[in-house]
Amino acid sequence: MSSQVPRHIGIIMDGNGRWARRHGRPVSFGHRQGVRAIKRVLQACEDLGVHALSIYAFSTENWARPRAEVRALMRLFHETMQREIDEMHRRGVRIVVSGRREELSARMRDRIDEAMARTAGNKNGVLNVCLNYGGRAEIVDAARSLIQDGLAARDVDEAALSARMYQPDLPDPDLIIRTAGEHRVSNFLLWQGAYAEIVVSETLWPDFGEEELKAAIAEYASRVRRFGGRPAAEAAVS
Ligand code: IPE
Ligand code: IPE
Ligand code: MG
Repeated sequence: MSSQVPRHIGIIMDGNGRWARRHGRPVSFGHRQGVRAIKRVLQACEDLGVHALSIYAFSTENWARPRAEVRALMRLFHETMQREIDEMHRRGVRIVVSGRREELSARMRDRIDEAMARTAGNKNGVLNVCLNYGGRAEIVDAARSLIQDGLAARDVDEAALSARMYQPDLPDPDLIIRTAGEHRVSNFLLWQGAYAEIVVSETLWPDFGEEELKAAIAEYASRVRRFGGRPAAEAAVS
């Protein structure tokens, strides 16, 4: 059995669009409700003793969405960071942002820098916001950094690459949750998620809360993690 509570959970927050359609509202309203779910889940993680939470907010592929939706999302991220930073800081949460910064607006980059700098010393938990994030882009960026550092081929190993990922200090995610019933990874934490347990929840992200999180953790706790090996009980009968 896995240890009961994952140290690090990653969430592919999916279903905002479907939620909005189902409620006869514009997609931007779905995204807005999605932010409320983030607050609930972050609080629940704190209560349950989950140390780190990585949330997939915007993928490197999401630029392909209609311009108006992208603009509404960016505005929402900016506004949310500005509004929530004080409370996050008071609660001792360290905020980090993962993704390619160059394509974000200067305004957004300033907000990110401010949030990261202000909360850098916090120890109660980590919120990793994956914004303009792609697992492939992250691996490409790590490879570039290896070359810039002048590493010889024989020195390129998993440790050297891991050290060049966006958040080398975070443990790998134990559990990756995807909401809205979709069974795919969509370019999230490709490197770090190599042995993550994946739980798919049918709940649309704006409806996700403590109860759904607890259910996902319970499913995680019932799994046998093998990491390519053979659990002791099986090995004994071979
Ligand atoms: C996830 O919800 C939020 C982002 C990708 C930013 P979606 O907007 O993908 O919701 P669906 O998949 O259309 O329902
Ligand atoms: C993944 O959801 C990206 C985020 C949650 C930010 P998408 O809705 O973009 O993924 P696909 O297109 O269904 O694979
Ligand atoms: Mg989606």
